[in-house]
Amino acid sequence: QDGISCDMVVFGGTGDLAMRKLLPALYYLHRDGHLHAGTRIFALARAQHTVDSYRKLARRHVSQHVARSDFDQHAWDNFAARMDYLSLDVSQRVEFPKLTKLLKKNSGRVRVFYLATLPSLFAPTVKHLASVGLADEHARVVLEKPLGESLITANQINDQIGAVFDEARVFRIDHYLGKEAVQNLLALRFGNALFEPLWRNAHIDHVQISVLESVGVENRGDYYDRAGAMRDMVQNHLLQLLCLVAMEAPVHFEPEAVRNEKLKILEALRPITGMDVQDRTVRGQYAAGERAGERLPAYYFEKRVDHDSNTETFVALKTEIDNWRWAGVPFYLRTGKCLAQRKSEIVIQFKPVPYRLFPRSGDNPENNRLIISLQPDEGIRLSLMAKSPGRGMGLQNVDLDLDFADAFKRRRWDAYERLLLDVIQGDATLFMRRDEIEAAWRWVDPILAGWQDCYRSPKRYPAGSWGPDAADSLLERQGHRWLDERE
Ligand code: BG6
Repeated sequence: QDGISCDMVVFGGTGDLAMRKLLPALYYLHRDGHLHAGTRIFALARAQHTVDSYRKLARRHVSQHVARSDFDQHAWDNFAARMDYLSLDVSQRVEFPKLTKLLKKNSGRVRVFYLATLPSLFAPTVKHLASVGLADEHARVVLEKPLGESLITANQINDQIGAVFDEARVFRIDHYLGKEAVQNLLALRFGNALFEPLWRNAHIDHVQISVLESVGVENRGDYYDRAGAMRDMVQNHLLQLLCLVAMEAPVHFEPEAVRNEKLKILEALRPITGMDVQDRTVRGQYAAGERAGERLPAYYFEKRVDHDSNTETFVALKTEIDNWRWAGVPFYLRTGKCLAQRKSEIVIQFKPVPYRLFPRSGDNPENNRLIISLQPDEGIRLSLMAKSPGRGMGLQNVDLDLDFADAFKRRRWDAYERLLLDVIQGDATLFMRRDEIEAAWRWVDPILAGWQDCYRSPKRYPAGSWGPDAADSLLERQGHRWLDERE
């Protein structure tokens, strides 16, 4: 067994995140021997549950969310024995002594407070924890996004948390950083000598980062309709991916070194303001459509979404990083819901050869391209030019194709497994520091403001399509096109 013995306290213990992600991740960690025998899990929520009824509820969800062959009754029984439940209203200070009693205040054990609740409850929760003496030096707090809706509101939340927990004990989750495929990006760049010398404006023509989702807003209409794709995905996941693609090699793989380098990228992002908002960004919203014969409703008919909603469910934009390495290289970002496919990938498009020696065969794209697939499959594809068999020297594209599932034949960890273990061990490398969040909002705020002032209505795209046509024109104007499989 790895790790240290700790108390994992999950606020929002009956919520969607706890049931779909946190408990399944903890179950896997337990099953695979990564949780110390002394580690206990306390689920907290307002609902009245007994420990037994909570364990039953948890079993139902966990068994649905882990692979069928991974659910083992014996492992579950031992895992469930670690779990306790406490009914608690976090807005009521008077309820917190119950928690102190349960956790035994001066036990000296590491305590992880995971706030899987509405962000509006973050401040009262930490304040009450402090007032009953539970926010001491053994305690850490984990915050889920969204952290605010703008720089101002993010600062308010960070100030309130910061008044109780110093920065080293605040773990802000961006679950994309927990994904194996995302960490692999660092391995690819900084564990191989091959790519890094080419990883710059002299050789790279442009970069595309796409996180395409086939699902709609599911049951989260009320949250999503306030947030939209920019706040939900771009401000955090897409910017984090961009940082990992673009950052310099950190001096060590340690929290401050890695986060310093990411911050430099966020600070070098060229601001998109004024007329650029119109020229460089596309905002879309899905209309009714269909996928594989199934009819899909328009966004504004989704549950708990305003019928007149102007919220964007799609964003595409062009940005540049104003530093020596990247000057002049467009970075195109794109994300959206209810699209044709679930697919996340990063495309590094290299420049053409300086002089063409061989004739072109057919209309194959001629430039080398590195495609890093993150979802649904993890892999790396390098598109090369090779001689077409037969007469002459016509060239054609061939791919060097690496599929990680094939290469490793081992279960890939879920992002939350890795991140929960890191919190227990106190390693913040894969968590966002306060200044990163601020820099990201500083870049996002003017775009949101531009949309608010002038371009309120999003462009419609049929659900099940590849997004609005304007997203294609954004690239075509530069002589580029999105790399996807629509042909
Ligand atoms: C979440 C967003 O952070 O990420 C969701 O709030 C989105 O809207 C999800 O669906 C995507 O995560 P993943 O891991 O499924 O790509």
